[in-house]
Amino acid sequence: MSDGFDQLWADLEPLGRNRTTGGYRRFSWGEADADVRAWFVAAATARGLTVETDRNGNLWAWWGEPGPDAVVTGSHLDSVPDGGAFDGPLGVVSALAAVDELKRRGVRPSRPLAVTVFVEEEGARFGVPCLGTRLLTGAITPERALGLTDADGVTWERAMERAGHDPGRIGADPDLLGRVGVFIELHVEQGTALIHTDSAVGVASSVWPHGRWRMDFSGQGDHAGSTRLADRKDPMLPFAETVLAARAAAEAHDAVATIGKVHVAPNGTNAIPSRVRTWLDARAPDEATLHAVVDHVDAVAKRAASEHSVFHARYEESYTPVVDFDTALRDHIAAVIGADGTPAPVLPTGAGHDAGVLAASVPTAMLFVRNPSGISHAPQEFARPDDCHQGVTALADVLADLLHE
Ligand code: GLV
Ligand code: MN
Ligand code: MN
Ligand code: MN
Repeated sequence: MSDGFDQLWADLEPLGRNRTTGGYRRFSWGEADADVRAWFVAAATARGLTVETDRNGNLWAWWGEPGPDAVVTGSHLDSVPDGGAFDGPLGVVSALAAVDELKRRGVRPSRPLAVTVFVEEEGARFGVPCLGTRLLTGAITPERALGLTDADGVTWERAMERAGHDPGRIGADPDLLGRVGVFIELHVEQGTALIHTDSAVGVASSVWPHGRWRMDFSGQGDHAGSTRLADRKDPMLPFAETVLAARAAAEAHDAVATIGKVHVAPNGTNAIPSRVRTWLDARAPDEATLHAVVDHVDAVAKRAASEHSVFHARYEESYTPVVDFDTALRDHIAAVIGADGTPAPVLPTGAGHDAGVLAASVPTAMLFVRNPSGISHAPQEFARPDDCHQGVTALADVLADLLHE
């Protein structure tokens, strides 16, 4: 089993990696994305799986005939800017290696099985995360998705077209979704819970509600030397107050809030900016708390903008409600992969996943593999080979159990 995993990993690892930082930049419909998609098609085909691209650009590799009540497993191959190697790819590689393992065990599926790769999970290029599954399930309209733009103003429509796919057919796909009997996503843990429980593999209980809000502070560009302080309309000042307000609101509510992306125009050392565009990422254990955090940040941004004669606008780019995974499925899986009669640990996560979007439509569960660095969305993200192999065994155990149901 480990040979299959190790070879798949070795083949995928160099694609889209920055040799200086060691991080990845695999943005949807870009060059590195084409490479990792081609890697997937080749790896799946070599295993005798039949690969289909759905209307939204997601990849489905079927073991046997595509059909109803399928057991589906997979994740994503896109990354955040300078992301780690494991977030997404670990689930895809483990799914292919689990198919190898099932074949080695002589499992003959009584239901169809598919391995999937969902597009634009991170929302790193077009802003809305889990776009592939949002489109598939109808959680976003095709009109809105087609018009989403990247940092260079390229639309989803144009980017998809340039990558050789027809954007004219995107949108909800109830026929394909109706084939999914159950979805399982294996993912690297993006925290430290499994370190503390001393376990290689855990099971997800829930995903915190989360969202992204774009904020624009528009002032007046001007000379850094000759403009008196009293005459300035400097958008950097309300922006700075907003960053601190996000931190304070998160602390006050036991939530998390991050401002990790900012565009300053025109971005000159000796010019007062004309505009600061920034994005708030906020997450909380429940939706009321999340709204309280965002409302507080918004109130501070408005007040600070007005004090500095700056115009402020806020726009909700994406919102994902709380997800509680199917309890019976989750507990069953924890028992299947638990050691010596002790169920595997069950843990919540603040990270978003395609499994979270699909959970609204089909029974869904997630497995997490221990990350000794505890770090994610950065090059230091890690999982030990031994733990990855245990993850494949656990996934194969779960799939074998579901295939025999
Ligand atoms: C994606 O990984 C997210 O949770 O932001
Ligand atoms: Mn992920
Ligand atoms: Mn991620
Ligand atoms: Mn994610």
